[in-house]
Parts: sequence; C-alpha cells; structure tokens
Amino acid sequence: MTPLYQDWVRPLLFRGDAEAMHDRAIRWGARLQRRKALVRWLARRYTVHDPRLRVAMAGLNFPNPIGLAAGYDKNGHSVETLAALGFGAIEVGSVSAEASPGNPPPRLWRSPADRAIIVNYGLPNDGAAAIAERLSTADLSVPLGVNVVKTNRRCAEPDEAILADYVEGARLAQDACDYLVLNLSCPNTESGRDFFAGHVQTRTLLELLDTPGPGKPVFLKVSPLGGDEALDQLLEAADAFPWVAGFIFNLPPGKPVPLSLSESELERMPGAVAGKPVEGLIEERIAALYHRMDRDRYRIIAAGGVFTGEDALRKIRLGASFVQIFTALIYEGPGVVRRINLELLELLERDGFGHIGEAVGVDVP
Ligand SMILES: Cc1cc2nc3c(=O)[nH]c(=O)nc-3n(C[C@H](O)[C@H](O)[C@H](O)COP(=O)(O)O)c2cc1C
Repeated sequence: MTPLYQDWVRPLLFRGDAEAMHDRAIRWGARLQRRKALVRWLARRYTVHDPRLRVAMAGLNFPNPIGLAAGYDKNGHSVETLAALGFGAIEVGSVSAEASPGNPPPRLWRSPADRAIIVNYGLPNDGAAAIAERLSTADLSVPLGVNVVKTNRRCAEPDEAILADYVEGARLAQDACDYLVLNLSCPNTESGRDFFAGHVQTRTLLELLDTPGPGKPVFLKVSPLGGDEALDQLLEAADAFPWVAGFIFNLPPGKPVPLSLSESELERMPGAVAGKPVEGLIEERIAALYHRMDRDRYRIIAAGGVFTGEDALRKIRLGASFVQIFTALIYEGPGVVRRINLELLELLERDGFGHIGEAVGVDVP
C-alpha cells in the first residue's frame, strides 16, 4: 500500500459512511474519465506490461490475470478510469433487466480488523438497457464483462418469470460486453439464495439462452455452498452448452466465518462477507471444481480475499486462470493491481514458471 493512500486517503475515506464514500469514488472516477490525457497518464503509471502475465481465456486476451470483480462499478460509470489502474479486465454489474433500488440503507460496512466488507446491497442498479447504453461509448483496452442477475423485486415470483428476467437481462447486456457472467447466487436476495440450488434451474436457464445463443462467452457465478454434489450438478447442467466458458464462486450468504465484530455490531450488519474471511472457503471450492471439471473446456475465475501476489498465485495454483479483486482495492488503494502484478512476476521467477498459465492447477491432482 502506498503511504499516501494508507496515511491520508484511506483514513479520510473510512471516516464516512461506506456506501457514500464508495459512490463518491465512483463519481470521481466518472469525472476523471472525461479527461482522456489523465486516464492515459494513470494507465502509464499503473499498468504492468509483461508477456508472462497474459491470459488467453474464452477466446479473449487479458493483458494480466488481475480483474475488477462485480459490484464495484455496478452501473458502469467509471470503467475507463478503473481500467487505467492496471486491471486485466473490468466486470460491471450486477445488472438486471429492470432498474432496482436494492435493499434499504445502511447496507455496506467495513471491518478493518478482518480486512472485510459486509454487503447487503440487494442489487441496486440502473437496469441493463441504461447500463448497456452507457457502456457503448466506453473505450477500453481490456475485456469488459457484464454480470447479469435477476431484477430484485423482493416478492415471490413464479419460476418462469425469474428465468425470463435473466434472459432479458442477458439479451440487453450482451452487445455491450466481451463476456457475460450469470450471477446465479446473489447471497442478499430471497430468490438469489436457493433458486439455483441443485442446478435444475441452471440447465433450464441455459436452454432458454441457447436459442439463438448469447453471442458472448458466459461464466456462471455460483454459490460456494452445497459441497461436491453441487459442483457435479453444475457441471452436468453446463455440459451441453459450449458457450459456457467457466465458473466463478460468489460470496456465501450470511456470516459463515468468525469475525472480530461483536454480536450487537453483527446484528446491525446483515449481509454477506467479502475479503479475507472468505478466502479459505473459496480456495477449497476452486480446487474441488478444478479437480472435477473438463480442464480443456472450462476456466475458473477466482474472487475472494486476494490482497497480494501470493494470494493470487495460490488461487491460480489451485486451478484459477484469472483472479478478481474488490475488497483489496478498498483497503489498499489504486496501486494495488500494479503491486499484485509485480509480486506475481517475482513469484513466477521464484517458482520457476516461464508464464502464469504454467502455474494453473499445479497444486491439484
Ligand atoms: C460491496 C460489494 C458488492 C458486490 N456486489 C456484487 C454484485 O453485484 N454481483 C456479484 O456477482 N458480486 C458482487 N460482489 C462480490 C464480488 O464480486 C466478489 O465476488 C467478492 O467480493 C469477493 O472478492 P473480494 O474478497 O476481493 O472482495 C460484491 C462484493 C462487495 C464487497
């Protein structure tokens, strides 16, 4: 972490309400993005160019393996500024067919002692059509993903309506991006939690999307819960659809891990935990999925508690081809992607890898 961010910027940002500060950061990014020369300067300062870090995945070329995870820039307001921080890809969303206000605030908290964020947003977003329109003018030199989810209506809906909502969201978003992510497991909505458990509905959704096909590679973002049986059901559901390029694990719902917060603080903070506390669960699931999946066909994108090059390489060695971060950007600041990429280069040398791709899955039988 740079002393400037650590000593000055972060204390200021962390003094205010987490969501208000986050929205402010997005607004700064959007304003900065209008100054193209500044964005180019940022990109020169933060981007690490090294062929050993390049990733080819799902027919796309990623200049390095560190991407921005979904949820940071939900509405695609500042993708160019974010890309200039040196990311290998930017994922916008989650985006739903219709605009939604999400859960009532407060709905975002930090727990610095745990290096964690607690999130109960409930998918607020401007809706897929407006966001796709916004993204259509973005000038990006890295792949852009759009993460699609069902509109959060906070009421019971028939299965057909839930599936149709996903299909519509994907249809509206697909031309605005290089890859799509179907968020099949939002931990903070009623229908997001269990609807795809067992993956019968996953297969139905993929069938609905299959004609005429989404036109873009698709990653499925799924719950890390359900054990190996859920992974087998997931792989079975995806099998018949060649445009399914791979998988991401989402945050588990609730607080499955011990945190340093008191009972009364936890009561005030409903929602899922991101950052260091979920690292172990996500890594265990990545290794299990890599062990089971067809490695010639699928790729894993890993997100959960990555703060350093060591963290990223560990996930890659367990089977991930690409890594995303969110919480580390909040805690470590804008230099974090550059630092992780430089650390990765050192680690590749230390471990005798000529290229990042050689490390994928080496720790899994
Ligand atoms: C504030 C916040 C909002 C998020 N919103 C979304 C979202 O809308 N869709 C999604 O698929 N994941 C969302 N996520 C999950 C992240 O994409 C990522 O999977 C998770 O935070 C783990 O990465 P991290 O430990 O680096 O934060 C969100 C995470 C946070 C912290």
